[in-house]
Amino acid sequence: MKWFNHAVIEKNVILMGVLTLITVSIGGLAQIVPLFTVATTIERVEGVRPYTPLELMGRNIYVREGCYVCHSQMVRPFRDELERYGHFSLAAESMYDHPFQWGSKRSGPDLARVGGRYSDDWQAAHLRSPRAVVPESIMPPYAFLDRPLAYADIADHLKAQRAIGVPYSEEMIANARADLEAQARPEADPAAFQGRYARARQAAFDGNPGAITEMDAVVAYLQMLGTLVQFRDVTPEQMRQQ
Ligand code: HEC
Repeated sequence: MKWFNHAVIEKNVILMGVLTLITVSIGGLAQIVPLFTVATTIERVEGVRPYTPLELMGRNIYVREGCYVCHSQMVRPFRDELERYGHFSLAAESMYDHPFQWGSKRSGPDLARVGGRYSDDWQAAHLRSPRAVVPESIMPPYAFLDRPLAYADIADHLKAQRAIGVPYSEEMIANARADLEAQARPEADPAAFQGRYARARQAAFDGNPGAITEMDAVVAYLQMLGTLVQFRDVTPEQMRQQ
């Protein structure tokens, strides 16, 4: 083919670079542009809801303390993982995680489905002194979490999450403080709180109903991990799309 002199391109590194860039861009655009036309690439799954204010504070502490350095939160679709941890993680289960906590290192077990596996008392005792309940543990103790939780700015935390796409309503933001307190006090009236956050449990998570502590927040968070999706309700079709 006379009109197409390949040697010219091969001998000119700048021309070759420009043409390579154009070629790669076309491929990139073909993959990326269609995504702009869909509202979300995450299939909605029944049961997934934003964190309650108390869980959100617990999650913040989880990030602050760097728990993700030793714990992942993603069950991969391999048989050994399924047998140990349960159903593999769905994208929707971390759709309200900013930033996500998938992690890349497991010095300790995956925590994506740890919710409900132990009692609140076990979780609090383990955090205070891991070796008191698991003698061979190398996890550091977090007994200082028994200090009071600073939550005066809880509404702002919800607003910040809303700014990056978590659907907290005006009502949730207005009631953030009341909802946080209601969840940490088992005797508080559940009607309004449970109406805003389905399947959220109220308890004195740290075993001390008298004070709202960082321990309450972390245990409330750990105890809801992986419990939102009732896997018997999820259809195979929804799974395939994950
Ligand atoms: C230095 C690594 C390390 C850090 C940091 C760490 N852990 Fe652990 N964690 C472990 C190890 C190892 C185990 C397994 C032994 C045990 O149960 O104590 C574990 C176990 C756990 C378990 C029980 C999991 C199960 O399925 O039995 C929970 C819950 C947990 N950690 C929560 C946390 C939280 C919350 C933090 C942050 C406040 C944290 N860990 C920080 C290493 C760590």
